Amino acid sequence: MRILGILGSPHKSGNTNLLMEATLAGAAAAGADTEQVNLGELEMKFCVACAKCYADGTCIHEDDVAALTAKMSTAEGLVLGSPNYMHTVTAQMKTLMDRCSVHVHCFLLEGKYGAAVATAGGSGEEQVAEYENEFLQLCGARTVGIAAAKAAGPKALLDQEAALARADALGRNLVAAIREKREYPDQAAAHAAFFPRMKELVTRRGDRCPFQFGHWQSKGWL
Ligand SMILES: Cc1cc2nc3c(=O)[nH]c(=O)nc-3n(C[C@H](O)[C@H](O)[C@H](O)COP(=O)(O)O)c2cc1C
Repeated sequence: MRILGILGSPHKSGNTNLLMEATLAGAAAAGADTEQVNLGELEMKFCVACAKCYADGTCIHEDDVAALTAKMSTAEGLVLGSPNYMHTVTAQMKTLMDRCSVHVHCFLLEGKYGAAVATAGGSGEEQVAEYENEFLQLCGARTVGIAAAKAAGPKALLDQEAALARADALGRNLVAAIREKREYPDQAAAHAAFFPRMKELVTRRGDRCPFQFGHWQSKGWL
């Protein structure tokens, strides 16, 4: 079982990384193969809303995102991590999310499980982690929970021992959920409510966006 951690902090040894590493350590202790990617080390251009990904499944940009999304597609579990920047995720994490628009239209993370970690200097760490999970759910994944903590300073979390224990438990829980193929009725209901909107969009744009139309056809969703 592969678990991929995606860190959106520019600090690869910072506060959010403490939670990410502890989450991946928990997953590894539960038997998963883990890998971490730091978005700050990648070349990632902004989405320019050209809709090429809807049309043929590829991006106009030639940067590191295609390799990352390929990696995401081979993992059973994904952990997103970001500090709170202005009440939301970092620009690095948001850039990845925007570049995954076709993942939302086609639910390309269907069958995968996710989890999220976040930190903040003052407040909002839980909201940021929940937002990361919301993105994963929009892409069709099921999310198992969050680990969030306030920063006590650089590379130091408030109540660090407890925060790292929560992150470790999150990683173990992610592995258990994948093994059990755990169901989340509230997430299934939200997905069922979102599905008709995407179906309408994919159908209406069928001529101009054959990739996403073909994906929906191949899934038997149309
Ligand atoms: C540009 C920027 C924006 C931030 N915005 C917020 C904020 O809105 N609320 C907050 O509580 N902390 C904010 N912070 C503080 C970070 O969330 C906090 O220091 C975090 O733990 C840093 O994580 P890192 O070490 O992984 O980078 C901000 C920090 C920066 C650099």
